[in-house]
Amino acid sequence: MTAAVPGSAPTPAFAPAGPVEIAPGVQWIGALDPVLRSFDALMKTAGGTSYNAYAVRGAAGVAIIDTVDADYADEFFARLEACARYDEIKVIVLNHLEPDHSGALPELLRRAPGARVQCSPRGLQTLRALLGADFAKYDIAPVTTGHSADLGDRVLDFYNTPNVHWPDTQCTWLGDARLLFTCDLFGSHYCDGRLFDDLVGDFRFSFEHYYDRLMRPFRSSVVAALDLLEPLDPAMIAPSHGPVLRTEPARYLRQYRRLSEPRHSFGTGTDKTLAILYVSAHGATARMAQAVLDGAAEEPGVRVSLFDLEGGELSPFVDLIEHADGIVIGTPTINNDAARAVWELLAKLVDIETRGKLGAVFGSFGWSGEAVRNVEARLQGLQMRLPEPGLKVKLHPSEAQLEDARDFGRRLAAHLTGRAAPREIGLTELAAR
Ligand code: FEO
Repeated sequence: MTAAVPGSAPTPAFAPAGPVEIAPGVQWIGALDPVLRSFDALMKTAGGTSYNAYAVRGAAGVAIIDTVDADYADEFFARLEACARYDEIKVIVLNHLEPDHSGALPELLRRAPGARVQCSPRGLQTLRALLGADFAKYDIAPVTTGHSADLGDRVLDFYNTPNVHWPDTQCTWLGDARLLFTCDLFGSHYCDGRLFDDLVGDFRFSFEHYYDRLMRPFRSSVVAALDLLEPLDPAMIAPSHGPVLRTEPARYLRQYRRLSEPRHSFGTGTDKTLAILYVSAHGATARMAQAVLDGAAEEPGVRVSLFDLEGGELSPFVDLIEHADGIVIGTPTINNDAARAVWELLAKLVDIETRGKLGAVFGSFGWSGEAVRNVEARLQGLQMRLPEPGLKVKLHPSEAQLEDARDFGRRLAAHLTGRAAPREIGLTELAAR
């Protein structure tokens, strides 16, 4: 899951010798990882990271909130043992079960077998896989919004916030301290043992870069989580990566809200937007693209735009697609496949939310014409809906074939406005062509 700098000396900046009290009766017991350079093979982490875990002490026992990556378990257990005994641990909360937060759990359960493990219902699936045959040995209870854990004189409330960025994600609220434990949400891959946002270095880049790579593809789920969490008005946000956020926490909530808003500063009213993006080797796919545009533009309420992928840069195209209601990809077939620029764009679409957008494909070919089918399969993999089978033309399009392309555009636009009956091409239909 992670990659470190080979041969580098792990010297965390300002590493605390033991646990750090972040609020009355709440200790940071996490670990610092200054050498991480790639997280999840998904994003670069030039500033390393931290795996934050917390111990909350109440009159009736101790709750542990999240654990750490297995490689850093020794550091976690040393800090935990400095502030609590294992037989005091009443609850282990797992806000998210990716290995960087659940890696030390099996050993923690061996040391504190009487603790009750609480995670979201979706988290149970991962927990079963993580614990194997031992799953049945422990007291494990799924929780969701409205459930709580009683520590005697204080209570932990659970808030189900799925898909930020895994299906299992949840947050935990310690009401008496107005402290929100958010695991990945509001995190930063930024390693600094001074822990608090007002003491560490300038981590603004890390905070936004983290959002961009981990949260942006789940923008709708982030907004749903914000709707649930903002009314709590936390005094402190304790994520499981990077600084603890105690300086006007509402500004971090606002920043997530802002980052989740459309990147283009003006809307299109009630119009739907359809972007046609193409590559053309000999001008044939370009002529088809113009015809698709002409046809789609006839539909009232649809704004259609046309771009040659080889004339632009990837990042603005990704922004454009993020806010488009539909995309149409034009590609010739080259060496039995779509053009390289098309694949480069499609690879970048994992960075944004594509589920439910309209997708379609067309293109010219010389011999076999696999590109259209291959790109359709990719759009389906991105959970887009394909209402029309792709359009293929051998060599240059005739006038009749250009009219077919115009009609293809008309039908796609009608699907966008809802004037055409809903239809979706299935994988089986794709494979049959
Ligand atoms: Fe920090 Fe999704 O793991």
